[in-house]
Amino acid sequence: MGSYIYRVNLKFMCRLICFLVTLAAVAANMAKISCIRNQILRMATYSVAMLCFERNSFATEMLGQKLFENSCSSCHENGGNIIPFYGDKNLQKSALLRNGYVNADRIVDLLQSGKGAMPAFGEFVSPKGKIYEAKLSNEDMKLIADYILTQSENGWK
Ligand code: HEC
Repeated sequence: MGSYIYRVNLKFMCRLICFLVTLAAVAANMAKISCIRNQILRMATYSVAMLCFERNSFATEMLGQKLFENSCSSCHENGGNIIPFYGDKNLQKSALLRNGYVNADRIVDLLQSGKGAMPAFGEFVSPKGKIYEAKLSNEDMKLIADYILTQSENGWK
């Protein structure tokens, strides 16, 4: 949750900067100091862009978390693995590295096809030819993979 508070603070700081810069722009405009005004307007554009970027990445992470809670946390709550004898195949950074899940692509591959007691989330064709529809889109798998990697960096706190 530490990173959550950090992000909220960052958003607040961005808003504050936006507000102050806008205020300065209005003041400069009133004083008709055009070169300063242009400089300030440029700064305002940057800070609005920064705010939008921060918002987007925040929303993306929230979506990854929701998807993870819906499809994965029944077995992987808090980055663990509740399936007996599979406890060391968890989502902590050390386990992911040990078992070769070193980036989002490797995790998406696993989600597509499943493995052992872990179900497949992509389209799945049984040996008898029966087709099981995908439970998650590739985009959603990517969001979940990114969420897992971020969480594993933070020790799932
Ligand atoms: C029914 C329980 C179950 C569900 C639901 C499940 N998993 Fe798993 N998961 C497992 C098991 C069991 C393994 C160990 C597979 C193996 O290596 O044999 C595993 C392994 C993994 C690993 C590799 C971990 C490691 O250290 O080797 C990742 C990553 C993973 N799961 C992600 C997910 C994600 C993301 C979802 C949701 C989209 C999910 N799992 C849903 C049971 C589950």
